[in-house]
Amino acid sequence: MDDFDAALSRAREHALAFLAGLDQRSVAATVGAASLRARLDGPLPEQATDPARVVDDLVAATEGGHLGSAGGRFFGWVIGSPLPAALAADWLVSTWDNNAAIHASSPAASVVEEIAGAWMKEILDLPREASFAFTTGCQMAHFTGLAAARNAVLAARGWDVETKGLAGGPAIRVLATEHRHGTVDRALRQLGLGTDCMVALPTNADSRLTPETLGRALSERDAPTIVILDAADLNVGAFDPFEALVPLARAAGAWTHVDGAFGLWARASRRHRDKTLGVDLADSWATDAHKWLNTPKDIGVAVVRDRKAHQAAMGLAASYIVRAEDGARDAMDFTPDWTRRARGIPVYAVLRELGRDGVEALIDRCCDFAADLATGIGALEGAELVGGRPTLNQGIVRFLDPRPGAADADHDAFTLRMIAAINAEGTAFFSAGMWRGRRTMRISVVGARTTAEDIRLTLDAVGRVLEAERAALQAR
Ligand SMILES: Cc1ncc(COP(=O)(O)O)c(C=O)c1O
Repeated sequence: MDDFDAALSRAREHALAFLAGLDQRSVAATVGAASLRARLDGPLPEQATDPARVVDDLVAATEGGHLGSAGGRFFGWVIGSPLPAALAADWLVSTWDNNAAIHASSPAASVVEEIAGAWMKEILDLPREASFAFTTGCQMAHFTGLAAARNAVLAARGWDVETKGLAGGPAIRVLATEHRHGTVDRALRQLGLGTDCMVALPTNADSRLTPETLGRALSERDAPTIVILDAADLNVGAFDPFEALVPLARAAGAWTHVDGAFGLWARASRRHRDKTLGVDLADSWATDAHKWLNTPKDIGVAVVRDRKAHQAAMGLAASYIVRAEDGARDAMDFTPDWTRRARGIPVYAVLRELGRDGVEALIDRCCDFAADLATGIGALEGAELVGGRPTLNQGIVRFLDPRPGAADADHDAFTLRMIAAINAEGTAFFSAGMWRGRRTMRISVVGARTTAEDIRLTLDAVGRVLEAERAALQAR
């Protein structure tokens, strides 16, 4: 036990120091790949090293190489920060180290996940009888939901894809929006459907798919069809009008899958819930816990209305597998992997830590902060709010090249330069986007640790950097 004690004590000390230092240190990494390699690389160790020393060395060698995404001023991509009970529960998952594939190999995990899955469906208000899977993220939640979709739309045409495969079967058509996330395309590749089966549908001025566009696409030809809708898009947080679209898809015999990586959490807020009206009519949903629910990475969730199709696509039978008794849940029936960590346990922990009220407060707070940040930056001289005031937690701005005669390409270049300069300054971190052909800086607020003071400090920092960068360009 001494080795465990020493290594875990050192890990706890380092973890607390890291968390306590997040407000002071640069949010961006301060060392590059070359320095990290120089510190970490070496011959494969021939001899043993004391475990506590391994921990200390690892922390020392990676110093400056971690983004401060667990802190309050990280607004890049869509990345949450772990809440205390979720982080502690995640440590315990590694400590217990059960294989959460089946009840027999992890009785406690099986039951905790059963309850965490039911709570997820309740807080997101999705059909309570739907099956679910805790996955590594939204990517594999797409894979899982779309595997069930593939099974069902082909079964409806008399084709069993699980035994026959895709070759020789009816060709599946996928209708998705132009704003879909890249993980959708990758899931189609992983499933052997390929991206050529997809028709990218245009959206309207509000970035939403209209019933007319979907209706036209559905009626173009008769094929087993999967429709993929967004809740919400990465740029402006636009939700497709599910109430109108899902019944259209259903009437055409299509399966509707929803990408709700972060946006599905709007359902937990009375203020934002209306945006998702009718989303519960869909057939499968993919979301994340590691984004807006603020669990550690990596935890996504797939929910599937048709349990049989889900199980047919994912289930696995082997002679040595002892099946659960008493109706206990075997996660492996629903997940794409066999050996797996109990990802539902941090979800259970965070839902207890926050409660329904806490989740709602988190969602509402992030949306307010996103609006404050986007409008605040947009109001700075030389900046521009793009796509309007955020209505959810995502916003976009761009920065204008101050030189006379500057064109869009110059503004694009200046926006990239500004993102790099803001991140290098260290107070806050943002990532780039493209919107309607223009380079933008995306603002995403999902972190539980973000405070009003963080927003104020960020606005000050962006203002300072913008002034300096404009002056530098004008002096050229
Ligand atoms: C809309 C959307 N869908 C899917 C994903 C992929 O999620 P994950 O990284 O958990 O696989 C993301 C990630 O940012 C996203 O924003």
